[in-house]
Amino acid sequence: MKNLKTPKLTVVGAGPGDVDLITLKAIKALENADVVLYDALVNEELLQYATKAEIVFVGKRLGCHAYTQDQINELIVSMANRFGHVVRLKGGDPFIFGRGSEEIEYVEKFGLETAVVPGISSALGVPASVGISLTQRQVAESFWVITGTTSNHKLSKDVDLASKSNATVVILMGMHKLNEIVAIYQENRNDDLPIAIIQNGTKNSEQKVVGNISSITKLVADKNISSPAIIVIGEVVKNTSKLTSYFQEHAEDEFIFQNLNLE
Ligand SMILES: C[S@@+](CC[C@H](N)C(=O)[O-])C[C@H]1O[C@@H](n2cnc3c(N)ncnc32)[C@H](O)[C@@H]1O
Repeated sequence: MKNLKTPKLTVVGAGPGDVDLITLKAIKALENADVVLYDALVNEELLQYATKAEIVFVGKRLGCHAYTQDQINELIVSMANRFGHVVRLKGGDPFIFGRGSEEIEYVEKFGLETAVVPGISSALGVPASVGISLTQRQVAESFWVITGTTSNHKLSKDVDLASKSNATVVILMGMHKLNEIVAIYQENRNDDLPIAIIQNGTKNSEQKVVGNISSITKLVADKNISSPAIIVIGEVVKNTSKLTSYFQEHAEDEFIFQNLNLE
């Protein structure tokens, strides 16, 4: 039987992890979805809003892709033609290192209607949630958001450029390149520059570490911090009252606290 619904794709940002950090518009899209295709970084509790949808996990776990990008593109088109409204639910904001625009470009070639629901990117939401003000007045006049892993698996050359500025730098997908990032900052800046790393930001499993360029590699190893995590580098990290009190509360982290020289 032919599907009578208009085939449509809505690319939706799920926010950084805390279920309350999704938008009302995203919830309405989920309620209205006939199919939801979701990624690994999405909090699965959000799927409760998709009461009438077929739900498919298309993400990457333990290094294994459930589907390639080409397969996801094709799946969106075939599901939309079969069932109607496909919601593509992605972590954070779908257009920040999220390939949302590529999926839209692909399905539009097949005549599908498309829409985008922005989300709170981890690049902004995670620092804010631990009290880091990326553009704190009189400390930072701008911030960069850079990928640690470009499409050819290299660290973006922009890290070198950004490290020569006074900007706050936020690096996504950078944990495997932490040594390289530290070496760049040691070359271009100084060992005391503060750096924070937050894994699973805004989720119950959140872990964070604060140090400076010279101490961070050891701290990350000691606390066993890994992906998914964001790296925030710049003087604004030092002025983070929430992180200061966090580390004051954790006696075992005294070493970290000392490393930052927080007053
Ligand atoms: C493929 S990118 C997708 C980013 C996403 N579109 C966004 O706007 O947040 C995945 C990377 O985002 C970062 N990330 C996403 N969610 C995170 C979270 N809750 N805590 C820390 N980092 C996160 C990590 O660097 C992770 O490797």
